[in-house]
Amino acid sequence: MINSPPRRWFQHFEAHLLSTWEGRSPGARAVEIGCGTGYGTKLILDQFGAATVHAVDLDPKMIARAERRLRRYAGRAFLSQGSATDLRVTLEQFGGGKDASYEAAFDFAIIHHIPNWRDAVAEIARVLKQGGKFFFDEVTATALARPSFQLLFDHPTEDRFTAGEFLAELPRHGLEVGERWRTLVGGDYLFGVAIRQ
Ligand SMILES: C[S@@+](CC[C@H](N)C(=O)[O-])C[C@H]1O[C@@H](n2cnc3c(N)ncnc32)[C@H](O)[C@@H]1O
Repeated sequence: MINSPPRRWFQHFEAHLLSTWEGRSPGARAVEIGCGTGYGTKLILDQFGAATVHAVDLDPKMIARAERRLRRYAGRAFLSQGSATDLRVTLEQFGGGKDASYEAAFDFAIIHHIPNWRDAVAEIARVLKQGGKFFFDEVTATALARPSFQLLFDHPTEDRFTAGEFLAELPRHGLEVGERWRTLVGGDYLFGVAIRQ
């Protein structure tokens, strides 16, 4: 499902929505967690205008597919297998993952996959510079509780977050979201941009 044309179409829509609040990030040094097959990485470079992206995914097969997709972005897209909960280890081979080292961070529908999801939020806050932007689109506990979702997808079942719980977690890590967020489909999906204070 996640590697299908409908997902690509929806991801275009997500990128468009996210760019309506804080616009593009021209010239940014960006980090992307859970890059999957690298379609979002391409959007971050082409649509958001980032100079470089350090992208990570836990699944080596996804990284292999992303490497194929992003071949023509050599020198701008850097891919690494590892966890979003420890970017220092995952990105050190590129000199990345350091405190306050990125102007933008992207989460295209991945944090709800992480059992200790708060650690991923903390890690994003750690690596963002002051004023850096955290672009997120997430699937909430409301969606994950639906039988259709449970039939089609495999997700952790404990401690998933509602839109309100995710938004409440951000300021605990110095990420200020203000009015730059919205939900879709009765709270199933959450989109927003938080700024690192
Ligand atoms: C729903 S897919 C989203 C992929 C892509 N961002 C997209 O929007 O199409 C979630 C991705 O997160 C990855 N993932 C799950 N847990 C992770 C973790 N702890 N760190 C990094 N990636 C993770 C999975 O391997 C998968 O590629």
